[in-house]
Amino acid sequence: MGPVIVHTENGHFGVDDVGSGLPVVFLHGFPHTRALWAQQLFALSVSVRCIAPDLRGFGESLVSGPFTMEQYASDVAALLDHLRIEHAVLVGLSMGGYIAMACLRHMPERVVALALCDTQANADDEAAKQKRNDMIRMVEADGVDALVRLLLPGMVGQSTQMLRPDLAVEMGRMMRSAPVAGIVGALTALRDRPDSTETMRRAAVPTLVAVGDEDVITPLHKAEELVGLLPRGTRRRLDVIAGAGHVSCFERPSAVTHVLAEFLSAQQT
Ligand code: MLT
Repeated sequence: MGPVIVHTENGHFGVDDVGSGLPVVFLHGFPHTRALWAQQLFALSVSVRCIAPDLRGFGESLVSGPFTMEQYASDVAALLDHLRIEHAVLVGLSMGGYIAMACLRHMPERVVALALCDTQANADDEAAKQKRNDMIRMVEADGVDALVRLLLPGMVGQSTQMLRPDLAVEMGRMMRSAPVAGIVGALTALRDRPDSTETMRRAAVPTLVAVGDEDVITPLHKAEELVGLLPRGTRRRLDVIAGAGHVSCFERPSAVTHVLAEFLSAQQT
């Protein structure tokens, strides 16, 4: 199946569904679309089944609430039900990682492995919550473009900005495609998300953590903390992606694809 609009119990979602074999769900960050993972889908669909939905509020999916991490996780469950998939590997970048951790709470029996990119287990502290509120006011008053101008410099790393300015432009375009309601909903969900520290302390699934070495939003020490939470005996690995910022899979697609391919092939043996 190629790109389609699927109608689940939770509403309609734009989804890419390519390849066959082990189901792997790719969850994008904020404020992206499923196009974030296009390069990984292209490369990995020769060996696994790659399923990349637009999250509620973005891309071709429904733009209505409720907007919470648990609701996004319920949307993933509804999508798996619709596709008649019992178990899947979850790959999430940043907010996609928060959703993958929410899935581990919501439906632990369906998650076979996790790949968490440029993300963290912690909830927002008071200062971060305040920034979310400021951003909500900004996007409501000044529109999406103003928010994108604020966020884009932190989204892509210094190397990408200097060496691949075309990628920064493309990322800006993807971010600008988000509707105000989807952005406000996601900011609310990000602000109010629960802490996932205990979830990860109990995570008994193989876990890959990857982070761009120039990520300033969820920097390396956050990835190290995340890996450190995983219970002893869990298969886990930490990969640092050189020359990438926060959207590592988009900035250094081959490097991220390579570590994902290794990780996924270990889940198939
Ligand atoms: C993301 O890329 O999903 C966001 O940067 C997450 C966040 O702001 O916490």
